[in-house]
Amino acid sequence: MSTLKKILLEKQIDCKSIWFMRQAGRYLPEFRKIRSQNKNFIKLCFNSNLSSEISLQPINRFDLDSAIIFSDILLVPYVLGQDVKFVKDVGPIVNKFELDKFLSNDIEEFSRKMDPVYRAIEKTRKKLNKNKSLISFIGAPWTLLTYMLGKKNKDGKKDFLKDKKKTNLIIKDLIKYLCLHIKNQINSGSDVVQIFDSWAGLLDKNDLHEFCFKPNYEIVKFCKKNKIPVICFPRGIGSEYLNFNKEVQPDALNIDYEIDPKWARENLKNVVLQGGMHPQFLLKSEEKIYTEAKKYLDIFKDVPYIFNLGHGLVPETNPEKLKKLIEFVRQY
Ligand code: CP3
Repeated sequence: MSTLKKILLEKQIDCKSIWFMRQAGRYLPEFRKIRSQNKNFIKLCFNSNLSSEISLQPINRFDLDSAIIFSDILLVPYVLGQDVKFVKDVGPIVNKFELDKFLSNDIEEFSRKMDPVYRAIEKTRKKLNKNKSLISFIGAPWTLLTYMLGKKNKDGKKDFLKDKKKTNLIIKDLIKYLCLHIKNQINSGSDVVQIFDSWAGLLDKNDLHEFCFKPNYEIVKFCKKNKIPVICFPRGIGSEYLNFNKEVQPDALNIDYEIDPKWARENLKNVVLQGGMHPQFLLKSEEKIYTEAKKYLDIFKDVPYIFNLGHGLVPETNPEKLKKLIEFVRQY
């Protein structure tokens, strides 16, 4: 069993597991080389050979316990009929949402169009050491909606919160495809799932239950029924992590960098914790990086804990510093 699964399933505390969100990406020169020859990001995600190669790049360089498949949360809206463009220095731009078009999708067509992602998982699993996990992921419905409905700011989002009936109709359908996507990824060889709710922090407290906790719960329930270890990341919800944990009950929770690790250690019970350290620390001196890493390792030393960050690695990260951080965590 992989060390990640030993921690997630058996709650082991005497083994270390390290991986990083966005470990396959722009801070690596070998990724940037492939990217410069593949201007269309979506096409790159659907290139099984390259996507598998990119997933393995951080594994070949560093002493990590898990690979995460190189893909994107926005492939789901793309496959469901909304064109997505990744514009340099702007980010993703998603075509206008059309409800009728969205509702006319079907699950066989979805699986067929997503097939290159599943082939990439198969290829990666074959090349990955047996003691390492292969993590697959999805975006949570709320986070996908912020892109699909194009209202990724505090005021803009109110437009689609006005018609909650319609929003819930879309969420219900999205959950169906997301569970299918999880199942297909697991059947292709991944063994752990992470659910990214990166924009949960945009929701008001009153809307958190309906649009964050509830959809995450439905998907976690599906994972549990199918014995799939699942990690949730409801970024930016502050002390609401407490209610998230009570309602959703995932195997693990990734804490973001705004969460006080001591508070998390004392209040988030019956769940494995992952991450927390601010990714910007990796841009500081080695000494500062180690001091911060030590803080998390000390606080979580006698509970099951997965070393990771409080959000993804930033593109400016120096791979050599990341390597040293990994060595530090291994030796500590
Ligand atoms: O290494 C890994 O973690 C696996 C690959 C991965 C990518 N995206 C590749 C990628 C994962 C897990 C994601 C998840 C993702 N995608 C999230 C959730 C995590 C988070 O960061 O909050 C979100 C919100 C997205 C949507 C998305 N994709 C955005 C906002 C952007 C542009 C800006 C950015 O953050 O990079 C992308 C593009 C993207 N996805 C890149 C990569 C390597 C960069 C593409 C490039 O310009 O070369």
